Amino acid sequence: MVKIAASILNADFGHLADEVRRAEEAGVELVHLDIMDGHFVPNLTIGPQIVKSLRIYTRLPFEAHLMITRPENFFSGFIKAGSNLVLFHIETTPQPVSLLEEIKKCGSKAGLVVNPETPAEKLFPFLELVDQVLVMSVHPGFGGQEFISNALEKIKALSEERRKRGLKFEIEVDGGVNPETGKLCQEAGVNILVVGTYLFHANDIKEALQSLR
Ligand code: DX5
Ligand code: ZN
Repeated sequence: MVKIAASILNADFGHLADEVRRAEEAGVELVHLDIMDGHFVPNLTIGPQIVKSLRIYTRLPFEAHLMITRPENFFSGFIKAGSNLVLFHIETTPQPVSLLEEIKKCGSKAGLVVNPETPAEKLFPFLELVDQVLVMSVHPGFGGQEFISNALEKIKALSEERRKRGLKFEIEVDGGVNPETGKLCQEAGVNILVVGTYLFHANDIKEALQSLR
């Protein structure tokens, strides 16, 4: 069964801990934290301090999606704050091997992210080193955008490469996910759906969650 990672970007930031607990009670498996520096993407969000404050309110695993330049300078703060998985963009670190190793040495899982304009093949040389790959189906920076369908071919390509090489990493998709686009992603081979707006803006978050599975 597909896992759901709740992206808090479009949740009510005035009640962030309550929103995380609401998602946990609804049954999501992961919390997806969108970290933005206003440089790699045209938006600014949260830092390690907020992650640390949220950590005590839920037992769910935290995945930190670093949409920042120079992720090597910041990843350890998010692990210390309680993140269980750190995902960074291949567009910010063309040579990701040492950073992937460093993240894992700090006791966190490690993953790579590709933007819509970046071919999935850019990740192929590093697939033995990742626990997870994240395919962006929107241009990063904001929640509530339309799903970009080239994500489907990229999920299929990564899924095929994983099968051919007998690897075990998880494939995740992020942006514009709802029951229709989520179904297409599952058919393409995705294991985890990142869902923000569709969940947090739903009248009934439990129903919204069920409609995604
Ligand atoms: C966008 C973020 C996504 C986004 C998903 O840059 O990486 O996680 O918040 O939100 P929705 O589901 O609203 O597209
Ligand atoms: Zn994200």
